[in-house]
Amino acid sequence: MSRFPDLLLRVGLGLALAGSCALAVAQKLPAPSPFPHVGRPATAKEVKAWDIDVRPDFKGLPAGSGSVAQGQDIWEAKCAMCHGIFGESNEVFSPLIGGTTKEDIASGKVARLLDEAYPQRTTLMKVPTLSTLWDYISRAMPWNQPKSLSPGEVYAVTAFMLNLAGVVPDDFVMSDKNIAQVQQRMPNRNGISHAHAMWPGKLNQSTARPDLQGSACMRNCKTESKIASYLPDHARSAHGNLADQNRIIGPQRGALTQEASAAASAAPRPAGPANEALALLATHSCLACHSHDAKIVGPSYQEIARRYAGKGDAVGYLSARIKNGGSGVWGPVPMPAQNLTEAEARRIAEWIAGGAGKP
Ligand code: HEC
Ligand code: HEC
Repeated sequence: MSRFPDLLLRVGLGLALAGSCALAVAQKLPAPSPFPHVGRPATAKEVKAWDIDVRPDFKGLPAGSGSVAQGQDIWEAKCAMCHGIFGESNEVFSPLIGGTTKEDIASGKVARLLDEAYPQRTTLMKVPTLSTLWDYISRAMPWNQPKSLSPGEVYAVTAFMLNLAGVVPDDFVMSDKNIAQVQQRMPNRNGISHAHAMWPGKLNQSTARPDLQGSACMRNCKTESKIASYLPDHARSAHGNLADQNRIIGPQRGALTQEASAAASAAPRPAGPANEALALLATHSCLACHSHDAKIVGPSYQEIARRYAGKGDAVGYLSARIKNGGSGVWGPVPMPAQNLTEAEARRIAEWIAGGAGKP
């Protein structure tokens, strides 16, 4: 039987019900779906699984507790490799801890935010609400395994970070019972500003408009961008292949972060030295940082080929550079050492020294 009359009937019924809401309520019918045949209502269990946000007044915070000492173990095992032993991070990630003082804890305003000479803005300098820190760690960290921490572990690691910043003492155990008191020591708790048009209800919204152009801070802007950080190899594919997840319209391109997709997107080709080299580039994630003809994090292969064209022992030099990484030839950003065999590095080096041609 054709589904068409059925569809008409349902849409018709939906409209009729929408037109007589009171009747629907009186008869305890479920509200008609505005999009019949599209999706289904979320189940209570699904809503519960999604509903994990913790609000500034700590509504939504699960019960539990964790100590600074436990947090240190978690930090060292699961966070320090990306964020540094002291939360200072490294050249790869933005720093989490640092830049706050005892005076800031007393005043609730981080003085260095106003010091343009201070080199960085750490998370703890900026964040006014402890709930945000807790919530973010709980939903998004560790970056390569989000939502893997238990509530107790989130309390512990958050307490450890606050201990690094001098907000809580070494023997502190943070819990849902005392977290509101810790909020009263957040270094930038009074730094949040409401007197702007982005905050509803505070200014006359009919006349004040948000500064969407950022004109207030458009001073002394740098005219050239410099790539100062990139994801470490082991984390690159944590969210699948970014190249497949970006629109192909506009200036943004997702980096190629997964070998499988890189290999899959390359149609089967006849064997040959160039194909072999290109396959190795995909297998070893070189394409995340180098493209054939445009600079990404590192120089393009064609650029490299031009630089070493006709130089004696280019192959030997390039194989060693591929295996060991290094910096300073193309700029300050280092290339990490690569995990591939001598023979593989040599194959790629031969291809580059031979002009980095396409098959
Ligand atoms: C594999 C690397 C990696 C690991 C491991 C990791 N993080 Fe992160 N972390 C990141 C990245 C990348 C960001 C920025 C993410 C973004 O902006 O979308 C981040 C952001 C954060 C932020 C927010 C910073 C800000 O100002 O927005 C906090 C807090 C944080 N991480 C805490 C942790 C904690 C706690 C752990 C361990 C349980 C952890 N991270 C483990 C990579 C990592
Ligand atoms: C995380 C990013 C990254 C990855 C992954 C990466 N490179 Fe690089 N590569 C760089 C950067 C940055 C430079 C520039 C280093 C410099 O200035 O000395 C570079 C430089 C090079 C050079 C030129 C070295 C020189 O002395 O001129 C070659 C060749 C090269 N990479 C090949 C590879 C190959 C092959 C792979 C994969 C096995 C790879 N790279 C993976 C970032 C990367």
